[in-house]
Parts: sequence; C-alpha cells; structure tokens
Amino acid sequence: MSIANDRTGSELNIRPLHPALGAEVSGVDLARPLAPETFKALHQAWMDYLVLVFPGQALSDAQQIAFARQFGALEVHHQDIIKSRAAPEIFRVSNVDDDGNLMTAAHPSVAQISLAQRWHTDSSYRPVPSMGSILHGIEVTREGGETWFSNMYKVHDALPAATRQQIEGRKARHDFAHLTTLAPIKPLTEAERQAMPPVWQPMLRRHPVTGRKSLFISPIYNDAIEGMAADDAVALVAELAELAGRDEFIYRHRWSADDIVMWDNRCTMHQVTPYDLAQRRVMHRATIIGDGPVIAG
Ligand code: SIN
Repeated sequence: MSIANDRTGSELNIRPLHPALGAEVSGVDLARPLAPETFKALHQAWMDYLVLVFPGQALSDAQQIAFARQFGALEVHHQDIIKSRAAPEIFRVSNVDDDGNLMTAAHPSVAQISLAQRWHTDSSYRPVPSMGSILHGIEVTREGGETWFSNMYKVHDALPAATRQQIEGRKARHDFAHLTTLAPIKPLTEAERQAMPPVWQPMLRRHPVTGRKSLFISPIYNDAIEGMAADDAVALVAELAELAGRDEFIYRHRWSADDIVMWDNRCTMHQVTPYDLAQRRVMHRATIIGDGPVIAG
C-alpha cells in the first residue's frame, strides 16, 4: 500500500510482513516531525498491523524521543541500571554498559534483560501499562537476538472455550519484583519496591482505539491469578504463553542496524531469542505511557 505524504512529497509505503501482524514502512524520515497527515496514516497502520518496522533510521536518542513523544508522554524507568545516563527516557536493552563495555552473563543487568527472552508485554506491572514501545537497533547481533511478536487479538479469538470460561472476568497479578525469583538480578531497593507494588489486571482486555478484545498476560511478571491456587495459575499462564507462541500468531523480526521497530503493548506480547553474549547488542527503547487503566474485555 502507498500513501502520499503531502509535506515531504514522498510516498509512505506499507508492506505487510506476516499474515498475523507486522508491516514494514518506508518513505518517511522519523528524524523530522511528522506532518499531521503522515501521523494519521502511521497511526492507522500501527492499529492495523500492531508492529511497524522502519528500516534505515539512524536516529539519535533525542530524535527517537521526539518521534515517540508524538504518540504520548514517555516512561522513565525506575531502575538506574536500566535507564540511560544521558537520556533518562531511554530504556537500555543492552549487554553493553553506558560506557560502552561489554558485560558478562553474570552481570545483574544482563541477567535482567535476558528475562526478555520470555514472553511479556512492557510495563504490564504498572497501574497504567505502556501503550507502545519504540526500539532502535543500534548494535545488532549476527545470530539470535531476534524479537518475536505475538498478535494477542488472534490469540484471544483462538482460546478454547473451556480456557476462555476459566479466565473470563478474572484478573492476573503483574509484579515487577517477580523478576527477582526468575534470575539473579540486582535486588530491588526499598524505594524501587515501593514505586512498583504488584497490580491486578484483567486477563481479557479491550483496546481503547480499535475496540477489539485481546488476551492480556505477561508471563515474566505474572505470579498469581484471582481465585486460583499458585501452581494452577503458573500452569495456566504457561499454557496461554504456549498458545501465543504458535507460528500462525507471530512475526519474527531479524534486526539490521538502524531498524526502528514500534509495537502496541495493548494487543501484543514479545520475546527475544537467545544469542551469544560475546556479541554486542545495543538497543534503545522509548516506552510510551498508556492512555488509561486497562479496559476489561
Ligand atoms: C523488550 O523486551 O522490550 C526488548 C526487546 C528486544 O530486546 O528486542
């Protein structure tokens, strides 16, 4: 699909990447403010395809932040080990520290970002979870380190009747501190723990823009489901994550340097594939604050 872009005279080209979700967008320079018509067309494409890939966008952090702010205010992460020193709105998904040194697997930051190798949605542990994330691949891996996205509308629609009955009207707990039980990450300070108390979120949600229903889980943060024994809750979340990981629901993104990938956290989950930590992987994320509490579906 091609859409004329009045201000730049260029063409916005939108090429679907997978039947379930994902489209590549070219013909736009994300370093410049978007004309209102371009913003509208991009926003519509985002709602239609859930994940947008913009190749060849060598943005500075400031340009990435300015691009992201056109969609909403940005989160500032509560942990110093994750947020960039130079630009606090940048969440560093990286095995390289702020001074450019490669960290080992044993480093608590690496242990923490490696948890992204399990399905999750960003900031689901906040009372108002993130609307969307914009990730810039600065140094990318030759092998592994792909990001996989699952279309949670489609997963919702594919829920077996018995499972749907089990989760309808139920809430799951999302707790940032749950990460400390999964990997040897840096223990949270009292202030961090207090800043991020556990929250209960509906397991079925309605998208505030499209009105469509999706399944809302975030397995790395989920440690309980209302009215269920702990073991049953863990088993159910694992079963749902397995369903979400079926080929028919996922787009696998293989990174090239200076790809910008933007996803909607209100209807997708994602995970990173393992990679050899001897390879540098430097990704900068801007995370858009959600537009309100989760709407139960
Ligand atoms: C994330 O989980 O937000 C980062 C995904 C990635 O590192 O590819």
